[in-house]
Amino acid sequence: MKNIKAIIFDAYGTLFDVNSAAEKCKEKIGNKWEGFANYWRTTQLEYTWLRSLMKRHKDFWQVTEDSLGKSMKAFEIDSSMRNELLDLYKTLSPFEEVPEVLRSLKEKKLKLAILSNGTPALLNQLVKSNKLDNLFDDLFSVEEIQIYKPDSKVYELPIKKYQIQKNEVAFLSANTWDVSGGGNYGYNSIWVNRNNNIFDNLDFQPKLEIKNLLDLLPNISSN
Ligand code: LAC
Repeated sequence: MKNIKAIIFDAYGTLFDVNSAAEKCKEKIGNKWEGFANYWRTTQLEYTWLRSLMKRHKDFWQVTEDSLGKSMKAFEIDSSMRNELLDLYKTLSPFEEVPEVLRSLKEKKLKLAILSNGTPALLNQLVKSNKLDNLFDDLFSVEEIQIYKPDSKVYELPIKKYQIQKNEVAFLSANTWDVSGGGNYGYNSIWVNRNNNIFDNLDFQPKLEIKNLLDLLPNISSN
């Protein structure tokens, strides 16, 4: 990919492992922890899409709490776990290679940013707790416009701030629908396919598919 001026990352599931909160409680939750983590994530995303369609915005933290409530009921998880799970969600761990790749990218003098459904407070806490806060130029949050991905207004936020062309952005997400959303907007969308998943049929194919962020470095050029 040539003439790239900004590398923009999705946060949840791409840089940070959304399953790590439930995984840290697997002793208490038992074998069902992974099914529960996936159900929580799916419900959380469904609520973002439904709220955007209904035009009844609630911020990502409230949506995360609401979806946790349903998921704990569905998996019969004791209500005493609620606060622990929510606290862990605020400090999710990054995937293993993320810190070193971000440090190498920083040397390339490109804009580095996060573009996420998360609130500014959540995103700040996530990067701070993982000591990644000095690596990003911006943490773009949908809260500025109160509508969730994949609305095009979300992907427009960095373009407006950086005054660059859509095709000068490399956008990375592990979420297939987010790769399609960014690509539909006009970004060079890159799918981080960590788990050998199947891509969506949304009339869009990613420009590039990589296994993890280490595969990004040889594929990006600023001229
Ligand atoms: C985000 C979700 C989509 O960070 O992962 O925006």
